[in-house]
Amino acid sequence: MNATAVIVLAAGKGTRMKSERAKVLHPVAWRPMLAHVLDALAAVKASRQLVVIGHAADSVRAACLDTNAFPGGGLELVEQREQKGTGHAVQMTKDALAGFRGTVLVVPGDVPLVRGETLAAFLQFHATATAPLSVLTTRPPDATGYGRIVRQPNAEGGGWGSGGEAPGNNETGTRIARIVEHRDATDTEKLINEINTGIIAADAEFLFKALAEIRPDNSQKELYLTDVIAIAAKAGTPGAVYACEPASEFEGINDRAQLSRAEKTLFARVAQAHMIAGITILDPATTRIDPRARIGVDTVLHPGVEIRGACVIGAANVIETGTIVDESVIGAGVHVKPYCVITRARAADGCVIGPFAHLRPEADLAEGVHVGNYVEVKKSTIGKGSKANHLAYLGDATIGSGVNVGAGTITCNYDGFAKHRTVIEDGVFIGSDTQLVAPVTVGRDAVVAAGSTITKDVPPGSLALSRTKQTEIADYATKRKARVEAKKASDAGEKRKKGSQ
Ligand code: UD1
Ligand code: CA
Repeated sequence: MNATAVIVLAAGKGTRMKSERAKVLHPVAWRPMLAHVLDALAAVKASRQLVVIGHAADSVRAACLDTNAFPGGGLELVEQREQKGTGHAVQMTKDALAGFRGTVLVVPGDVPLVRGETLAAFLQFHATATAPLSVLTTRPPDATGYGRIVRQPNAEGGGWGSGGEAPGNNETGTRIARIVEHRDATDTEKLINEINTGIIAADAEFLFKALAEIRPDNSQKELYLTDVIAIAAKAGTPGAVYACEPASEFEGINDRAQLSRAEKTLFARVAQAHMIAGITILDPATTRIDPRARIGVDTVLHPGVEIRGACVIGAANVIETGTIVDESVIGAGVHVKPYCVITRARAADGCVIGPFAHLRPEADLAEGVHVGNYVEVKKSTIGKGSKANHLAYLGDATIGSGVNVGAGTITCNYDGFAKHRTVIEDGVFIGSDTQLVAPVTVGRDAVVAAGSTITKDVPPGSLALSRTKQTEIADYATKRKARVEAKKASDAGEKRKKGSQ
C-alpha cells in the first residue's frame, strides 16, 4: 500500500460547545476527545502524523504532547492562525507535506469514537478504489448538521443501491458527485440520510491541487474541504464511497448533548467487549471503564463502578458498587467493597478493601492485606497479611507483614513544614487510637498500648505505653446520685415558696 500521511483537524473553536475551552479538549472518558482520535490513528501505520491546531493552540499543543498515542513524539503540529474552514485547515499542511507522495487521510478531531481498525480498513479500501479520493460515509438516525452525500447516478442505469429506500436518496451509484453541507442543502437534499463522516482519504497530489480551486461561496463563507469532491467528479474521476456502520462510531461532537451521547456510546462499547471477554458487569449502563484498562476473567463489577485510566486489574476480583479505581494495579482475588476510591495505588492478590476506604497515590498493599472502612492510605507500603480494619490514616509509612493496626490509629506524618516516615516492623500490634509521631520506628513484634502517643522509637519486642495512669474514686456514682437528688429537692422547695407568696 501507498505511504500514508494523516491530518487531524483540531483548529476549530467549537462555537456550539459554548465553552472557553477548545472543543477537541473536552473530555470523553476522562481524556480530551482528541486523544481518542490520536489513539485510533496510532493503529494506522502512517509515515507522517500532522495535527492542525489554531484556536487555543497552546492548550491543544500541550494535549497533543501529553497523549501516549505517539510515544517518541511522532506528531507534527501545523498552525492555522485564522479558522477559515476545513479546506483551509488542510491547505495549511501543504508546505509540511511538500514532496510527499501517497495517500492523505483526513480525520476531524471531533470524532472520538472512531476505531483504528475502521480507519485501517478504509485505507485498504481506498488503495484499491482507483479513485483520487474516497469518502467514509454512514447513515445516522438523524442527519441534521452533517454534510449530505450526493451520489452520482448509477452508470449501469439506476436501481436502488444500499440504503436507496430513503426518500431523496435515489442517486445510487457507487461514486460520489458532491457533498452538500446541511446549511447549504435544499429541502430535497436534506432528505438524504447518507452523511459525510469527515473522514476522507485522497491522493496527496490531487488533494492539494483541488484545494487550490475551492472558493468560500457558501452560507458560512468558509473554505470547505468537502468541495474537493465535486472537483474530482467534474474532472471525470469521481471519488469512491466507503459506507460504514454503526453510525454512532462517527458521531461528530459539536455540542454538549453529542458529547454526553458519545461518552455513553464509548462506555457501552468498552463494557460489551469486556463481557464478551469473560468479565461480569452487573449493570453496563452505569459502569464506566476507560478503554485502556485491562481486566482479568471472572472479575465481577457491580453497578456504578468506574475504572479510570490504564488500570491493570487481575482475574476473579469483586469490585462493588460506587468504587472508583484510577490508574491503579490490582492483583487477583481481591475484594473491593462498596464506595472505595483507589488512585494510583497497588493492591496484590487476595486483598480485602473497604467499604469506604481511600487508597491514595503510592499506597502499595502486599498479598492478603485488609484495609477496612474509613481507612486512608497514602505513600505507604503494607506487608503481607497486615490489617488496618477501621478508621485509620496511614501516610508515609513502611509497614511490615503480620501487623495489626488498631482502630483510630494515625501516623502524624506532617509537622507543618515537612513530611516524615513511620516504620512499623513485622508482627507489630498497634492498639486502638494510637498516634505515631513521625519520624518514628516501632520495632519487630513490639506492642503499642491503646491510646498511646508514640514520639520515640519502640525497641523490638517491647510494650510501649504512653497515656496517663488510670485512677479510680470509690463510690463516686452513689455520691453523685445523692448530690443530684439533693439539688432536685431544694429546687422544688424554692418553687413552692415562690408559689405561696
Ligand atoms: C464537517 C463537514 C461535514 C461533516 C462533518 C462530520 C466540512 C465543510 N463539513 O462539518 O460535511 O458531515 O464535519 O462530523 O468539512 N476545523 C479546523 N479549522 C477550521 C474549521 C474546522 O481545524 O477552520 C476542524 C474542527 O476543529 C473540527 C473539524 O475541523 O475538528 C470539523 O469542523 P466542524 O466545524 O466541526 O465541521 P462540521 O460542521 O461538523
Ligand atoms: Ca464537527
